[in-house]
Amino acid sequence: MITTSGLTKVYRSGGREVTALDGVDLHVREGEVYGVLGQSGAGKSTLIRCVNLLERPTAGTVTVAGQDLTALAGRGRRASGALRQARSRIGMVFQHFNLLSSRTVQANVELPLEILGLDRRERGRKALELLDLVGLADKAKSYPAQLSGGQKQRVGIARALAGDPKVLLSDESTSALDPETTRSILGLLRDLNRQLGLTVLLITHEMDVVKTICDSAALMKGGRITESGTVAELLATPGSELARELFPVGGEPSGPDRTVVDVTFHGEAATQPVISQLSRTYNIDISILGAAMDTVAGKQVGRMRIELPGRFEENVVPIGFLREQGLQVDVAGAAAGTDVADAAEALIQEGAK
Ligand SMILES: Nc1ncnc2c1ncn2[C@@H]1O[C@H](COP(=O)(O)OP(=O)(O)OP(=O)(O)O)[C@@H](O)[C@H]1O
Ligand SMILES: [Mg+2]
Repeated sequence: MITTSGLTKVYRSGGREVTALDGVDLHVREGEVYGVLGQSGAGKSTLIRCVNLLERPTAGTVTVAGQDLTALAGRGRRASGALRQARSRIGMVFQHFNLLSSRTVQANVELPLEILGLDRRERGRKALELLDLVGLADKAKSYPAQLSGGQKQRVGIARALAGDPKVLLSDESTSALDPETTRSILGLLRDLNRQLGLTVLLITHEMDVVKTICDSAALMKGGRITESGTVAELLATPGSELARELFPVGGEPSGPDRTVVDVTFHGEAATQPVISQLSRTYNIDISILGAAMDTVAGKQVGRMRIELPGRFEENVVPIGFLREQGLQVDVAGAAAGTDVADAAEALIQEGAK
């Protein structure tokens, strides 16, 4: 539904160049909620502003619903008719709501409809329908100053839906809200995603947001996407930074010459018997350093950090046993990509045969 390829944005100001996006390939499937995470300055807002061509990328392409937006002329307020038209089908929700204080709630929602050229009656009908959809039918005649933060954001969402978009972009739309209001707004986004088949691309720095509503996620660093995939894929990726943050398990090794292993299991799979089998089969003492269960992307996931006596090389066979049981096994400390980790991985694969 949304595809960017080689998306690059270089800002030039006062003789200085800032590469905000450095070749971003993003792929958001139709009907999914996709979260982009990353630290401040990573390029998240730039990415979302390039997706609807509020910013014109320096290089690369953006395709939304099969249409190459980068091929359309204009930018920002000087967008061509074709670009405006395409953009009206991409809703955008902002962190600070961006409502006009002099207009009623209804008139705020009507604004994009005015731009689209709908007549007064049609605008009114549509605006009330949208306000009903976001649970604010009774606030049509209120002014933004009379609303709570959560209500303002509902107005922002109603306004974003005015052009019957297929895609909704959201830049930190809940970060100005308290946790409970955040939950209700996320619930609304999820409902809209399901009811209207809306594809949602959202930016957040809150892992909870990803856990609650995202199907897929990407991590941005320094203008690049360093990890991406469905939440389930990420959780199943050894060494994934997003998975670790989505689902942290703590626990320090009790001493040197120990092997710390993170075991992830999905759904009903119980680790407990596997751990005791492991202990019996190989006659080793296993300590559980930490464990947690959580619901991620609507599915139960468990994580357990265990400690085996001896160094990694001595534990290749027991670790292979865990993998054979269908558990996802991540050896802590063996940073992916290093020679040691690669060698260890090869040994484990070998051991599992
Ligand atoms: N209009 C601009 N002119 C010059 N540099 C810019 C401009 N907009 C963004 N940048 C720079 O581009 C980089 C990425 O900024 P961006 O706003 O996309 O980050 P972000 O990930 O959204 O951060 P935050 O989490 O703080 O919102 C930063 O280094 C920023 O200073
Ligand atoms: Mg930002």
